[in-house]
Amino acid sequence: MYLVEATIRLVNGFLLSYGPQSIKRRMWEKQYRGPKWLFRDNTSGDRIYAHLETHARKGRILDLGCGSGNTAAELADPAYESYVGVDISEVALEKARKRTQECGREGKNRFVRGDFLAWQPAPAEQFDVILFRESMCFVPMQKIKDILDRYSKYLRAGGVFVVGLYVADKKTARDKSRPSAMVRIMEKEFDVVEKREFDHKARPTVLVLRPRQQPRIEKTG
Ligand SMILES: C[S@@+](CC[C@H](N)C(=O)[O-])C[C@H]1O[C@@H](n2cnc3c(N)ncnc32)[C@H](O)[C@@H]1O
Repeated sequence: MYLVEATIRLVNGFLLSYGPQSIKRRMWEKQYRGPKWLFRDNTSGDRIYAHLETHARKGRILDLGCGSGNTAAELADPAYESYVGVDISEVALEKARKRTQECGREGKNRFVRGDFLAWQPAPAEQFDVILFRESMCFVPMQKIKDILDRYSKYLRAGGVFVVGLYVADKKTARDKSRPSAMVRIMEKEFDVVEKREFDHKARPTVLVLRPRQQPRIEKTG
């Protein structure tokens, strides 16, 4: 029985990262219709908010894999000027829009359906923070650098990526290979502005990254 469940988990995990958009979408719609993600409806006080508030600089936030709208409702209102949330699930986005209405932030929060592996902001749009909050694990490993490079074009000068992810297993506290490998890739390819690992079995980690500056090549002669 354990083997069957483990295989199903493995296949589902694979499809959520590597599957075609239509399958990923269907899987996420089903998950958001059920109780699985209800716990994300209230994440007030999450430690990631302090990082977002510092780096948003009262400016613009792009939230990739925004889910049911927790960040857009719970982040301190004065901390940002405007927010765009992108998610593959329309069910999640309906909840997010409702939540934004309830807290009176329709004027500054906007939600768009899209697959963040392909979605693009309007060419002139620029953000102070581009956030992947528990959503980087759905980016195929070999695409992490390309995806971050592509979104780098939409960072304002001084803008950063903020990535929140759980690195360890919440029962055993042992490092999980996939998120650990993701952290290594991001640390290798980008400048790490901040890294916080919080004291909890699942080791929630926040990485603040900046595109690496090209080394200057001095002209001679
Ligand atoms: C674990 S949930 C996190 C949601 C939210 N960021 C939070 O912290 O509560 C991951 C979210 O990423 C979204 N997602 C996964 N793959 C995606 C993709 N390729 N494009 C857009 N959204 C995606 C899912 O629909 C889901 O809402």
